[in-house]
Amino acid sequence: MILPVYLYGQPVLRKQAQELDSNYPELDTLIKNMFETMYASDGVGLAAPQIGLSIKLIVIDGSPMGEDFPECKDFKKILINPEITEFGGEKSSTEEGCLSLPGIHESVQRPSQIKIKYLDEKMEPQEEVLTGFAARIVQHEYDHLEGKMFIDHISPIRKQLIKSKLNNIIKGKVRCSYRTKLLSK
Ligand code: NI
Repeated sequence: MILPVYLYGQPVLRKQAQELDSNYPELDTLIKNMFETMYASDGVGLAAPQIGLSIKLIVIDGSPMGEDFPECKDFKKILINPEITEFGGEKSSTEEGCLSLPGIHESVQRPSQIKIKYLDEKMEPQEEVLTGFAARIVQHEYDHLEGKMFIDHISPIRKQLIKSKLNNIIKGKVRCSYRTKLLSK
């Protein structure tokens, strides 16, 4: 089932998400629906707050980026209760977008390497080191669990320049090819 994507202005996007426990009801269905929603909106990652649930759950499929970023080719993940335990490597700037911020693309500087701990869909603990765009996708989605969005990383001048676009999203004056949940609805 394709779920509506919550857009900028929805309070859930600014909340600290809660840990998920192993008896979360119908987790398999939720994960399946999140993948379906992400694919339907041409996203490469989706965090639970973006579908209105303030829980620590992320789905990722970076394969559409595989041509430009080889590290994304087979990068498909379900991250439950993720924790970034180390940031490293050079910082790099690349343009990001977000399903909750339609029409906005800005360059964001992030560390190029991270170490993460998480539970997979079988609730098995995992740990791995990610680099490049794969590390970027995880950092972007992880921000959503902390109530942050990529626009929080841009300069005050850039933020000023996109202010009217942000206000339009809040007012529902936005065109989207996917199902959305606006603040006004
Ligand atoms: Ni996002």
